[in-house]
Amino acid sequence: DASQLRYDGQVVVVTGAGGGLGKAYATFFASRGASVVVNDLGGSHKGEGQAKNAADDVVSEIRNAGGKAAANYDSVENGEGIIKTAIDNFGRIDVLINNAGILRDISFKNMKDQDWDLIMKVHVVGAYKCAKAAWPYFRKQKYGRVISTASAAGLFGSFGQCNYSAAKLAQVGFTETLAKEGFKYNILCNVIAPIAASRMTATVMPPEVLDNLKPEWVVPLVAVLAHASNTEESGSIFEVGGGHMAKLRWERAKGALLRADETFTPGALLKKWDNVSDFSEPEYPTGVANFMGLLEEAQKLPANPPDESIQYNGKVALIT
Ligand code: NAI
Repeated sequence: DASQLRYDGQVVVVTGAGGGLGKAYATFFASRGASVVVNDLGGSHKGEGQAKNAADDVVSEIRNAGGKAAANYDSVENGEGIIKTAIDNFGRIDVLINNAGILRDISFKNMKDQDWDLIMKVHVVGAYKCAKAAWPYFRKQKYGRVISTASAAGLFGSFGQCNYSAAKLAQVGFTETLAKEGFKYNILCNVIAPIAASRMTATVMPPEVLDNLKPEWVVPLVAVLAHASNTEESGSIFEVGGGHMAKLRWERAKGALLRADETFTPGALLKKWDNVSDFSEPEYPTGVANFMGLLEEAQKLPANPPDESIQYNGKVALIT
């Protein structure tokens, strides 16, 4: 089909591709002409143990279907080794999907350093190491696509997942900066927060829900973002699951602006407290506020009498 999105001649690295979402990406890209590095350490969902069959089985499946794939069994902390597998087998790398992941769910109160450290190692160090190893190739060839994997837990918080939440929101900041640094080299980087049935979600969701959260339904978004025809979309956050895909963005409230003089007091801020969270005329920023412009506006504000009484917690008070 000539109208298919295809990836012929391209090399795609998918980390954690031995199962779940990663396997869905790997088999898709291979079916559309890409050579795929199927990386998977093959441990448990808690990050214990390792086994080669996770990656090997997906490689066999791809080859049996007539596709091109090579296995890599490294932990994502060894990004160099994973990218080397791409170079050694296929001579290049075009797309990196940072997908490998584990869970160490436990309440903050009971969390051990090991639960925190292991999550950081796999998600944060892993995404860094893989992108770091791919980056010189991307820059040199002026082409690269990176998709990293956040989570609703990272965007919104989630009981028992403060380690995972921190590591997952880290993917957002990481992506936003790589997108800014990579754009002029045609390296486009985006981050997704997926929901899909996998061994990871099998423990927390009932089967009838999981039936409607197929990993394959996440693939179209990743396919579009990773394709050469995407020349603009970068530094973006997407929610994807159950067939629904939507972009998320930051929203900035109107904000309180204080006069930069002797009225720059906590009391002056309390008088304008509602403005701090007034989202009636929002901005959708992709960078910090224009502080120089705000300073100019602040000079024009009338001075606040510092001894004016105000409403604070329902009481009239004198706060300066
Ligand atoms: P999964 O457990 O089926 O797949 C993750 C794969 O990563 C496994 O095959 C595992 O062996 C591999 N892996 C783990 N540690 C590794 C390491 N150090 N090096 C190399 N491979 C390693 O889970 P699923 O659901 O497919 O997760 C994929 C990604 O999506 C993860 O980053 C996960 O955090 C994220 N995610 C998934 C959600 C879901 O609803 N399934 C929700 C939000 C995020």
